[in-house]
Amino acid sequence: MISLEGTVALVTGAAGGIGRATCAALIEAGAVVIATGTNGTAAARKPPGTEWLDLDVTDEAAWAAAAADIEHRHGRLDILVNNAGVSIVERFEDVTYASWRRTMAINTDGVFLGIRAMLPLLRAAGPRREGGASVISVSSVAGIVGAEFNAAYCASKGAVRLLTKSLALEFSAFGYPVRVNSIHPGGVDTDMVESIFQSYADVGAAETAKIAYDAAVRSHPRGRMAKPEEIAAGIRFMASDEASNMHGSEMILDGGFTAR
Ligand SMILES: NC(=O)c1ccc[n+]([C@@H]2O[C@H](COP(=O)([O-])OP(=O)(O)OC[C@H]3O[C@@H](n4cnc5c(N)ncnc54)[C@H](O)[C@@H]3O)[C@@H](O)[C@H]2O)c1
Repeated sequence: MISLEGTVALVTGAAGGIGRATCAALIEAGAVVIATGTNGTAAARKPPGTEWLDLDVTDEAAWAAAAADIEHRHGRLDILVNNAGVSIVERFEDVTYASWRRTMAINTDGVFLGIRAMLPLLRAAGPRREGGASVISVSSVAGIVGAEFNAAYCASKGAVRLLTKSLALEFSAFGYPVRVNSIHPGGVDTDMVESIFQSYADVGAAETAKIAYDAAVRSHPRGRMAKPEEIAAGIRFMASDEASNMHGSEMILDGGFTAR
């Protein structure tokens, strides 16, 4: 039984599918969870039992304010889950620089800003737990293998994978008690997936969103998309002392998608 009693966790993009399930999983294990997201989309969908903080992950000043607030109210942060993300499906020729920058800003810069802002709190909390403090960044199978019509997303998620490994090495070199890992879901049934398959139909990759969705399902050897709760279970494990030797690593939860 995984216990996160006495820990404080922050989850970004917490009003979305994987974010909500992650908040529930961490709370169930005993963590105090600070759910964060962008104003408007989020507060109305605050995951039950969480504290809410408005936090756009691309906003450096908002990260600094969040760190100050957590220090003031809790005095510690044990777990940081970098979950916020966007996926914009477009033909490469149609990707504007603004669209490219938006994907990189949210999916990659947001992870960089979050870890950098929270590192002092994570370093301070780390020695209090056997496994140390834990950073889990939600990448994707698209951070491991390519995907057509999704170049910016793949680039952004690949960057998260190697940012993770680089920080694991650097933090260990300095003896910081902070583990850093990434998680790589395949298809997960959330709002993101719904909008993606409509976009695949819009760029002409499939006749309809339903046809695109069914093809994606078939590309997963388990023959289905994951449930958000299955990804949250992986995140909860990575956050816990059960994963005390998991560092600079990547957990692939993809129903066999990358096994070929
Ligand atoms: N659904 C999938 O198939 C899948 C597969 C692999 C990886 N992922 C990754 O999982 C994570 C969660 O995705 P999801 O499937 O739950 O999608 P989702 O769309 O349900 O949730 C994403 C959340 O991120 C938030 N967000 C977007 N921009 C933000 C910003 N600037 N600041 C803060 N929050 C912001 C959104 O408001 C939303 O609540 C993402 O990083 C996504 O890339 C999803």
